Amino acid sequence: MSGRMQGKVALVTGAARGQGRAHAVRLAQEGADVIAVDVCAGFDNTQYPAATTEDLAETVRLVEALDRRIVHRVADIRDLEGLTAAVDAGVAELGHLDVVVANAAIVVIQPYDKVTPAIWQEVIDVNLTGTWNTVMAAVPHLVQAGGGSIVLVSSVAGLKGLPFLVPYVAAKHGVVGLMRAFATELAKHKIRVNSLHPTATDTPMNQMESTEGPHPIEADPKVAPMLWNHLLDLGPVGMVDPVDQANGMLFLASDEARFVTGVTLPVDAGCSIF
Ligand SMILES: NC(=O)c1ccc[n+]([C@@H]2O[C@H](COP(=O)([O-])OP(=O)(O)OC[C@H]3O[C@@H](n4cnc5c(N)ncnc54)[C@H](O)[C@@H]3O)[C@@H](O)[C@H]2O)c1
Repeated sequence: MSGRMQGKVALVTGAARGQGRAHAVRLAQEGADVIAVDVCAGFDNTQYPAATTEDLAETVRLVEALDRRIVHRVADIRDLEGLTAAVDAGVAELGHLDVVVANAAIVVIQPYDKVTPAIWQEVIDVNLTGTWNTVMAAVPHLVQAGGGSIVLVSSVAGLKGLPFLVPYVAAKHGVVGLMRAFATELAKHKIRVNSLHPTATDTPMNQMESTEGPHPIEADPKVAPMLWNHLLDLGPVGMVDPVDQANGMLFLASDEARFVTGVTLPVDAGCSIF
């Protein structure tokens, strides 16, 4: 097989399902071997179903069906020690590490005055500290490999103050800060760092189990245009597919982007047009 990722090894967090699975499969289609990490467990404050070990096994099956190798580990990106052990085990088996897709995250949708300290802390711990942990666990291996590409998955909410997402917006803007700071310091190691900014994407994260009445946007319709996806006929409720995000990631991860670092790439159907 020959492809744009031939001979590379890629770490993908949140690989059990959704965009993480799409990233793993797309990388494998282009020739990469994969280290797949997922917590496969629920969270205290999320309003949608948790990923399972069966989901992670399906990602493994899809990558192996492409004749690529995949090492999978159940680990929580909030646990630096456990995550480092998982990444180290994957590198020991697959030989090296070239690409990191820091994709794992959670979302909690609440108006600002319904955000509890526990919600704030859980979202910041996973989406910001967990992303920092992912970079810290991976970088020694990228340095060892002589360079590489890191893609931090943020969101349109990392570029705009989207409504009803205060902790998520803060964490995803923080991911942009991580991206820029790491891009500066890691350039001397030939490690590029960029961020990907999805709009609403058709994954289980969007299957909210709403038990608390109408969506907050119904009480505050003035903010609805902020969610508008200009390229989609369905406007604010339209979604793109996980593979659209994977294709954006692939460009940033590939050698085609060898002089691209420190950029925020929206794959958002125009949602972040100013
Ligand atoms: N789906 C969307 O509409 C959308 C929009 C913008 C950005 N994003 C971002 O895209 C990325 C992927 O989201 P998705 O839509 O595929 O969601 P998803 O919930 O379908 O998948 C996320 C995966 O990450 C895993 N995960 C979460 N926290 C983890 C942790 N602490 N440790 C290890 N694994 C963990 C989950 O178990 C799950 O398998 C996230 O960073 C998300 O914030 C999603």
